[in-house]
Amino acid sequence: MQSLDQFAQAKLDDLQRRHLRRALAETLREDGIWVERDGRRLMSFSCNDYLNLSQHPAIKQAAQAAIDKYGAGSGASRLVTGNHPLYAELEARLTRIKQTEAAVVFGSGYLANAGIVPVLIGRDGLVLVDELAHACIFAGAQLSRGKVMTFRHNDLDHLRKLLGEHRAAHEHVLIVTDGVFSMDGDLAPLAELNTLANEYDVWLMSDDAHGLGVVGGGRGSSFSGNTHIPVPLQMGTLSKAVGAYGGYLCASAPVVDLIRNRARTLIYSTGLPPSCVAASIAALDLIEREPGYAALPVQKAKAFTTRAKLPEAQSPIVPVIIGAEEATLAASQMLADEGFLAAAIRPPTVAAGTARLRLTFTAQHPDDAIERLADIVREKIMARA
Ligand SMILES: Cc1ncc(COP(=O)(O)O)c(C=O)c1O
Repeated sequence: MQSLDQFAQAKLDDLQRRHLRRALAETLREDGIWVERDGRRLMSFSCNDYLNLSQHPAIKQAAQAAIDKYGAGSGASRLVTGNHPLYAELEARLTRIKQTEAAVVFGSGYLANAGIVPVLIGRDGLVLVDELAHACIFAGAQLSRGKVMTFRHNDLDHLRKLLGEHRAAHEHVLIVTDGVFSMDGDLAPLAELNTLANEYDVWLMSDDAHGLGVVGGGRGSSFSGNTHIPVPLQMGTLSKAVGAYGGYLCASAPVVDLIRNRARTLIYSTGLPPSCVAASIAALDLIEREPGYAALPVQKAKAFTTRAKLPEAQSPIVPVIIGAEEATLAASQMLADEGFLAAAIRPPTVAAGTARLRLTFTAQHPDDAIERLADIVREKIMARA
């Protein structure tokens, strides 16, 4: 036991030395935007609850009603007895929103990515992943035991080169990208990726964790730019703009049926609590009904980037890249002193030398607070970076 503790302590000391040690900070979310932390009340620009739906009265009510009707937990994996009646309703709604034939809901977005990729790609396959894609896509790719290669961020020429060099050696090839990049807030060129995938007869999967509910009129990144890009594998999560918890894949009927039969993270993991599924249904109802509300987070992010003189926001996520870890922590602390919660994001979540404040904008952020934050970022952070 002693060697185990020594091992852990040495690792922690190393993280500490490199300003990379993390700690869980107790955070009490009062409503959509205000949080309490260390006895202080701060306006959060660090939640992924882009539409503030985790706190919406009708959505909380839907979750409570589901607990009363079906209980606190689902009791088993979906393929055993955990498939309560709300699942079919949620999957029908996702299918309609994404305009695919079918949908399957997982326990989380992480579980979805870790489960989907190994069903589609085996030892002989190839997974081509954008270098800035989310960690759980890489986890899924590693679990597939196929060959994993990264292409430079949003670089179609590099991807084409890799396809030209490696396509012929593999029967099945899967390209995976975030639709909205989680730490940079930019969008993937899905139309061009889809054309390239068709040209080389390979499969394309997008992770729309940060797109559903906030871009493309709320339908997500495959609907942005007023066109519908028929990405065959559209994965996402119910934990960001939808305000609840869970992951999903929208795809054709046979693909979804195969995933239900083979995805280990679906088969060997307990179904979601009924309250999560009910909250997601109520949230998607609202998103479908109110595209104007769904457009607000990106509008607010754009107002911020214009005033802060940063590149125009494409999503509710705006990175303020500082570089050094220590300086990023200091900037986060300075903003806390001004009443704002803006979390410092450090390696390995982002590449070395690109530590940043990752700001997220939500429908209910007041315009005057956004202006004040922009002025501080422009004058006290970017001017010194
Ligand atoms: C792009 C992306 N994919 C997947 C996930 C994982 O989703 P979940 O939080 O539902 O596990 C996240 C967020 O954590 C994400 O940002």
